[in-house]
Amino acid sequence: MTVTKRIVVLPGDGIGPEVVDAAVGVLHAVVSGFGHRFEYETRPIGGAAVRQSGTSLPQSTLDACRSADAVFLGAVGDPALDGAPRQQSPEYALLTLRKALGVFANLRPAKLWPGLENAGPLKASRVAGTDLCFVRELTGGLYFGEPRHLDMEAGEAVNTLRYSREEITRVADVAFRLARQRRCVVTSVDKANVLETSRLWRAVVAEVATGFPGVRLEHMYVDACAMALTLDPRRFDVVLTENLFGDILSDEAGAVVGSLGLLPSASLGKGPGLYEPVHGSAPTLAGKDVANPIGAILSVAMMLGQGFGLMNEAHAIEAAVGLALERGARTRDLVDRDDDPHLTCSSMARYVADVIMSATPARSA
Ligand code: IPM
Ligand code: MN
Repeated sequence: MTVTKRIVVLPGDGIGPEVVDAAVGVLHAVVSGFGHRFEYETRPIGGAAVRQSGTSLPQSTLDACRSADAVFLGAVGDPALDGAPRQQSPEYALLTLRKALGVFANLRPAKLWPGLENAGPLKASRVAGTDLCFVRELTGGLYFGEPRHLDMEAGEAVNTLRYSREEITRVADVAFRLARQRRCVVTSVDKANVLETSRLWRAVVAEVATGFPGVRLEHMYVDACAMALTLDPRRFDVVLTENLFGDILSDEAGAVVGSLGLLPSASLGKGPGLYEPVHGSAPTLAGKDVANPIGAILSVAMMLGQGFGLMNEAHAIEAAVGLALERGARTRDLVDRDDDPHLTCSSMARYVADVIMSATPARSA
């Protein structure tokens, strides 16, 4: 069966446009092979939107996202706008979009791809076989809690960490359902020895767990989890945590599996999903065609699988990424020294697309 889908594409800032182009090329290869029809609508967000229209999330961008089947975003963030008022903050645009789409569950898989055992800073013997997935709460916690304010003159600032039973229940439910399709373990990460929100978190997660008798639940403090991620990353299956902890731990997981540039994400709620690589805008790499497009490419695979239920298509992309990496295809972030042989962002994407179309792939050296 073939499908027709409308995808809103938000290239954004820094390396966002490059990795988005790369991933859309791969998406095109798989989609045309399977006979689907995807329509793409590109809209501005972040610093790029500020330069066009003065605001980081134009109403027309938000409206387009709301009525799309899925939203694919590159990255937001622009050093020129650091400390800008909210209407012009690239990060604020992304947070507003997440909230408007109601995408409360952020899935961030991190796995060690065969061939990349030595790409990262940790010993291969520790990281080989790592295969975990964060379920990060995405529309609550410190990122959104009110009141919040900054008074530079008075030298005082406030943020609020607030969670409700409903917010915890719905994201925990996603984590347990996911665990059932994986190795049936949920590690819930909190700071219940200090924070009241974490004590509520722990109690509600334990309640949700009773509905999933086949899944084992363990609780872990966030500081211990940060260490365990480097000492024994294979012990984790699904890692369920609140917004800020998930933000921090998922970057750490990038280093564990070789590069942050490899990590994809899917943000899910009731409406259209939001798919984006975990890496940011990396302004120093922008425009040089050196970024790693794999995080973005795997994000479109999640769009196909999680978003549209097109499992064969999603697997085709994942298998092609796996084969490319096994055959030694590397971007600059995956080699030891900058002058070791490596592919550009666009040529890595072509390599993956070629594998999908079973053409003869380009060589990495
Ligand atoms: C991420 C990013 C965002 C976050 C920023 C850009 C607002 O770091 O998706 O991990 O903190 O959630
Ligand atoms: Mn982050």
